[in-house]
Amino acid sequence: MATKEFPLVPEKVPQVRTKYRTIATEIPVAASVPLLKKLRDMEPRSMGGQPPVVWHRGDGACISDPYGNRWLDFSSGVLVTACGHGRPEIVQAIRDMADQGLYHAYCFPSEVRLQLVEELSSWLPPPLARVFLLTTGSEACECAIKLAMTRGLALGGKKKTVFVTFDHAFHGRTMGVQLAGGIPALKTWLGDGDPRFVQVPYPDGFRQKDTRFEVFQAALAAKGVDPDDVCGVMSETYQGCNACLMPPEYAQDLRRWCDRHKAVLIFDEIQAAFGRTGKPFGFMHCGVVPDLAACGKGISGGMPLAAVLGTEELMNMYGPGEMTSTHSANPVCAAAALANLRVIRKERLVENAAALAPVLAEGARRIAAASRGKVGRADAVGLVAALQFTRPGSTEPQPEHAWEFVRRAVARGVMLFAPVGVGGCAVKINPPLVITEEALREGLAVLEEIAAEL
Ligand SMILES: Cc1ncc(COP(=O)(O)O)c(C=O)c1O
Repeated sequence: MATKEFPLVPEKVPQVRTKYRTIATEIPVAASVPLLKKLRDMEPRSMGGQPPVVWHRGDGACISDPYGNRWLDFSSGVLVTACGHGRPEIVQAIRDMADQGLYHAYCFPSEVRLQLVEELSSWLPPPLARVFLLTTGSEACECAIKLAMTRGLALGGKKKTVFVTFDHAFHGRTMGVQLAGGIPALKTWLGDGDPRFVQVPYPDGFRQKDTRFEVFQAALAAKGVDPDDVCGVMSETYQGCNACLMPPEYAQDLRRWCDRHKAVLIFDEIQAAFGRTGKPFGFMHCGVVPDLAACGKGISGGMPLAAVLGTEELMNMYGPGEMTSTHSANPVCAAAALANLRVIRKERLVENAAALAPVLAEGARRIAAASRGKVGRADAVGLVAALQFTRPGSTEPQPEHAWEFVRRAVARGVMLFAPVGVGGCAVKINPPLVITEEALREGLAVLEEIAAEL
């Protein structure tokens, strides 16, 4: 779903000056327009979807432009900067590795790679036992699909390569994960797709009211899928478009179903892992452990690094040199990720997300109430919330309201990324995990005012 471009016409907006936010110019800033226009002229249009703010400097939960404006960051980029921006330990780790002269090592062993794998291993609940480092979330999800299909082939031949995902699921933008995703608008370029990729309804209680596991089985039966032909099932732990966790009973039934039919259970934890939901992994809310977890975003706090975490059996299916990547465990990224994970642990940021979860959930409820029906659904877990703007009384997306909400928030010093989700109707609120209660409340109060004015 394409979002609407934000206009590059400077607009007079009320001036703001608080501990966390400064808006001292028109928005967008007149002096920034040439830069913004040049980018729009030289890059694909797809890169022009975010609010027209030039990101220049980061400090903690705030981001500044070069023109004297400062925003309270409720985006974390795109759920990446778990420890906030400009985190000294991460900056130092990047500097130290650069000073060492090691900014690439392919798959040759390095000390920092071992340190990161050890750190990640210490987060893993059994039977997750092995760590494979990659670069992007899409790559990690693709790898998980490959492992499930490889195991399916080994167990049941070509028949056992049906791969199940969920409606509205987002797993990235490379070809395999677009096939696996549940957003039809993103797959038009794939023609008739690949019949091995099958979607079932996600039990969100909003678009899919019946959240019992029987719906999963009925949906497969309706599509003529023999459960024994399924090689894997993949789901985001909470869907990126709605911040709604898979219900625990559903997840537990799914776990049993996968075991019964020898299908690999995969959770896409690209958004959820390392504290975002108030637990180390999102699946810990559900009382299950998957066979594979794909991680990215908050794993590194900013540098491009991702990981597949998996069981001994699955992770060892390929032989030496058969499952690698040019930039696996890039030393600078690995050093940053190590520093990031150590800060998350030392500063108890998982616990901070859990402690602030009720504040965010209450804020999301108040925003929905203030919107007088424009927000049809507000979900929140840990430090992520999603406001879905829908036609009152229905689930039909109202992307114009979501877009205008983001535009006004940015003009008042609260940074949000452009709407996502079904029909572009969802506004996400996901500040860095280092945010304080004071800052969180300030930003939520601004968003509540905007909802009331829309
Ligand atoms: C749930 C989920 N999975 C996968 C991805 C893809 O990650 P990347 O953009 O790093 O390839 C994303 C990115 O937004 C995501 O939110």
